[in-house]
Amino acid sequence: MTKLGVNIDHVATVRQARYRGRDTGEPDPVEAALACESAGAHGITAHLREDRRHVIDRDMYSLREKITTRLNFEMANVPEIVAIALDVKPDIVCIVPERREELTTEGGLNAVGNLSALKETCTKMSDTGIEVSLFIDPDESQVNSAAESGAGFIELHTGTYAEEFTNTDAREAELTRLAAAAKQAQDAGLQVNAGHGLNLQNVPILLKRVPGLVELNIGHTLISRAVMIGIEAAVKEMLALLD
Ligand code: PXP
Repeated sequence: MTKLGVNIDHVATVRQARYRGRDTGEPDPVEAALACESAGAHGITAHLREDRRHVIDRDMYSLREKITTRLNFEMANVPEIVAIALDVKPDIVCIVPERREELTTEGGLNAVGNLSALKETCTKMSDTGIEVSLFIDPDESQVNSAAESGAGFIELHTGTYAEEFTNTDAREAELTRLAAAAKQAQDAGLQVNAGHGLNLQNVPILLKRVPGLVELNIGHTLISRAVMIGIEAAVKEMLALLD
């Protein structure tokens, strides 16, 4: 079975909208992570961005302390965040590109252009017992550099596949690229995850066409579905109190 890693960033996004700068606030991403685990999720992913727009430092430490599945610490390869990751000691870090003005991670990492910096971080992480994944586009040269970097995993960026899902030609082209990149990486000894923009509609075809994926990292749709599935219960709870 392909594993599910739940990205809880957007639980923190909602909390920060009201409680930025405060010591507590709802919804608590750690409480959400524990609920995901009790529902059967295989791991929890959180992205500590340099601008701390959603997940903040104390969330990472608290997740490390409280969750019992795997903690995937998503991060840019910059000294401040590398130092925090080495201190938190997650099970795995996923290195992503980060631009301050972006809405979410847009595009994969340039592993080719940043190979020596990536090698350095992979060495630091593996010396501390932390696995490394590189979030890359399904591109032959990027897979080659990932294989050279010392990372044990790649996460294939499925954003284009998700965006083009209703355009059959473009979707097929992207599925072909994803399957080729996954095979190339697996042949090179890398474990292959995938993520970005995945949902109930596009996951089945991805799994069928790209075999051997170890884990899917899914965030936005799960938080969206949680609102839609959960809001009735939340309103009923408040009405019961008013009655
Ligand atoms: N994987 C990576 C590397 C990401 O940056 C993100 C988005 O934060 C995801 C997976 C999850 O994407 P989505 O929120 O679209 O499910």
